[in-house]
Amino acid sequence: MVANASHHALLPQELIRLKRDGEPLPLEEIEAFVQGIADDRISDAQIGAFTMAVFLNGMSREEVVALTTATRDSGHVMQWDSLNLPGPIVDKHSTGGVGDLVSLVLGPWVAACGAFVPMISGRGLGHTGGTLDKLESIPGYNPYPAPERFSKVVKSTGVAIIGQTGNLAPADKRIYGVRDVTATVESIPLITASILGKKLASGLDALVMDVKVGSGAFMPTPEKSRELAKSIANVATQAGTPTTALLTDMSQPLAPCAGNAVEIVETLALLRGERPDSRVMQVTRELAVEMLMAGKLVASREEALAKLEKALTSGAAADVFARMVHELGGPADFMERSEHYLATAPVIQAVYPEQSGIVQCIDTRAVGMSVVELGGGRLRNDASVDHSVGFSEIAEVGDRVDNQRPLAIVHARSEDAAARAAAQLRDAVTLGDAPATADTLLQDTFRGEA
Ligand code: URA
Repeated sequence: MVANASHHALLPQELIRLKRDGEPLPLEEIEAFVQGIADDRISDAQIGAFTMAVFLNGMSREEVVALTTATRDSGHVMQWDSLNLPGPIVDKHSTGGVGDLVSLVLGPWVAACGAFVPMISGRGLGHTGGTLDKLESIPGYNPYPAPERFSKVVKSTGVAIIGQTGNLAPADKRIYGVRDVTATVESIPLITASILGKKLASGLDALVMDVKVGSGAFMPTPEKSRELAKSIANVATQAGTPTTALLTDMSQPLAPCAGNAVEIVETLALLRGERPDSRVMQVTRELAVEMLMAGKLVASREEALAKLEKALTSGAAADVFARMVHELGGPADFMERSEHYLATAPVIQAVYPEQSGIVQCIDTRAVGMSVVELGGGRLRNDASVDHSVGFSEIAEVGDRVDNQRPLAIVHARSEDAAARAAAQLRDAVTLGDAPATADTLLQDTFRGEA
């Protein structure tokens, strides 16, 4: 949709003034403003003033829906109708975490159950890992296929996990860049429209959202996480894409590993059906159930669980992953010979605690930052990533650690880097004598209200 500014009554500064003064915004004016951002008719200064006004005064639900749909429609919106896919188009998005390899298992798993998943993933951001960085541990994997190839892979395998390309929600690219340097990132209306503006441009029938809570979460408090989950579920649903948001625990790494290749190794084990009751699989399964139900592939939770169980134990989910990897340029025998392809770090060492004890809690953000410092993530968005580094076998809350059972295994480029990461990990893990239990994994479910 191309809006012509001349059809609209308000100048950008008048729209900004309304929000500055706490007045309601005419919804069609939001659309014109966002289109003006995509067309470069609105300046960075105007974007900054607008986002600060929203930061301070908030937005009504209707305003957030309008901002979301305008962001979605500011660039190319994918259409799947012409492919006549025999199943629903569904996707998942997460606010990001540490050891959060959910997408890598979830996409192939629900695809093996009949869903189609055109997943646009991101790179690591801050302390969180990125699905795309992890996939690029696989030699040859091309996360930027031509659009026709992307459609073809989604159609033939049921899932393709790729990176964001040029014309997807271009208004968000500008808005986010300005928010980053104007202290206006932490606004629930703006976060909602930013995430959904991009995600809904994939032309989805249904979406599930994994909003994290805890020391490794993007949102600073449980209350804010909850507010974001509710906002996303309702706004996406009102924008026409039925959405459920789960609130899940990120007070410790979700899988017992954090890094790139190490998380791919774990993904393969999980897809082979090993550790089906691990915390990461519990979260993945809950999201999968919501996707199958929202996509109307099943009539009940029980039916969803049965279908998922079969897709895992039969090897169908693993097979979908293997085919996706190969279709996107990776080795045909990656699943069978992954150790032949994945980079391994020159230094691999156990990190023992200074004293024995039971893991009470983990500063998950610090663990993520330690992986970044090892070279597994980036501090600048143009930096490259070392796929081989990270932590594996990370102890969980409630585990006893001592001079036999380490806190983790560190994978590093050098002895020095390993020693630094080991010290950071010891600082990040609080030990005590008392038994400790992990926080509840699935803390809440918000089904969007239309
Ligand atoms: N991720 C996004 O894409 N946008 C935000 O505003 C915050 C997180």
